[in-house]
Amino acid sequence: MTKIGVVGLNYWGPNLVRNFNDLAELTWLCDLDEKHLNPVARRYPNARATKNFDDLLADDALDAVVIATPVPTHHALAKQALEAGKHVFVEKPPAMRAAEIDELVALAVEQDRVLMPGHLLLYHPGVLKVKELIDSGELGEVLCVYGNRVNLGIVRSNENALWSLGVHDLSVILYLLDEDPELATAQGSASIHPGVQDVVFCFLRFPSGKIAHMHLSWLDPHKMRKMTVVGDQKMVVFDDMEPERKVTVYEKRAGSAGELHSGDIYIPKISTHEPLRLECTYFLELIDGQHDKSKVARDGARVVRALEMLTNSLDA
Ligand SMILES: NC(=O)c1ccc[n+]([C@@H]2O[C@H](COP(=O)([O-])OP(=O)(O)OC[C@H]3O[C@@H](n4cnc5c(N)ncnc54)[C@H](O)[C@@H]3O)[C@@H](O)[C@H]2O)c1
Repeated sequence: MTKIGVVGLNYWGPNLVRNFNDLAELTWLCDLDEKHLNPVARRYPNARATKNFDDLLADDALDAVVIATPVPTHHALAKQALEAGKHVFVEKPPAMRAAEIDELVALAVEQDRVLMPGHLLLYHPGVLKVKELIDSGELGEVLCVYGNRVNLGIVRSNENALWSLGVHDLSVILYLLDEDPELATAQGSASIHPGVQDVVFCFLRFPSGKIAHMHLSWLDPHKMRKMTVVGDQKMVVFDDMEPERKVTVYEKRAGSAGELHSGDIYIPKISTHEPLRLECTYFLELIDGQHDKSKVARDGARVVRALEMLTNSLDA
């Protein structure tokens, strides 16, 4: 069984701990803060608990490190873990700047280790279904994609809506289109904490001519977790707020005067497996030599590059 250590045990880390404890051998738990370390350590007494990340790196028997610490720490912790010969799962986004992620990707290749960013939605059966519909040609030529991730939610003072909410949608858009944007611009407004945008609108254009848009906000009357893909034949909506009808496909027909009418609407069946469980399983399979480990690392780098373009535009 693959031996796993998890670092960062406050809000999100315990979800990763639960899954890796079921799927692998959880051997280390690490958090700088005893307040977050101790309750998790009590729940998983078979794992060793430490406040010092170096303890994990010094354990030759440890195969992989799972990083769920704040974003600014990701690059340094992932770098140390790869240098120590560990496989790395690092929460999203895996780094803050393109140069940092490029360094991590190169290091993972050099060390022949897995570097998997935690882009959870890429393991969501609904997103996989949308990808299948695009790749099979069922939608025809994809023209545009747009995401809405808005609601009245947690107001962060250290991270804007692009970084907090947008990374999810950005990872999905880039995965669906499989292209790097040639243009990525963002505009936003900061009304609660100065300099921290609560509402962000992003526009991306790709070399193929496809365009994409993201509306991100924690200051909105709607609660939406939605991604829409418009093809020249059919359109599809992935709606994560829907308990059952996560994916809906819309056909269209042309009227006699060239106008467009709605056609049949259908709901493909998708699996109800927990995306986080699927994501953790994928990491373990990558360690076992299944799948293409260089692809997940490259996908992560693509997200950080686009995020950097959007951030530069937002700050300009
Ligand atoms: N995939 C998802 O849907 C999802 C959801 C929420 C959060 N996240 C990601 O998970 C990560 C953690 O988010 P969170 O909300 O749990 O953060 P948090 O700030 O609540 O917790 C981070 C923990 O890391 C610890 N920590 C910080 N630096 C450390 C170090 N050097 N060594 C050991 N421990 C250290 C802190 O003490 C804290 O307990 C972020 O990257 C976030 O983007 C992902």
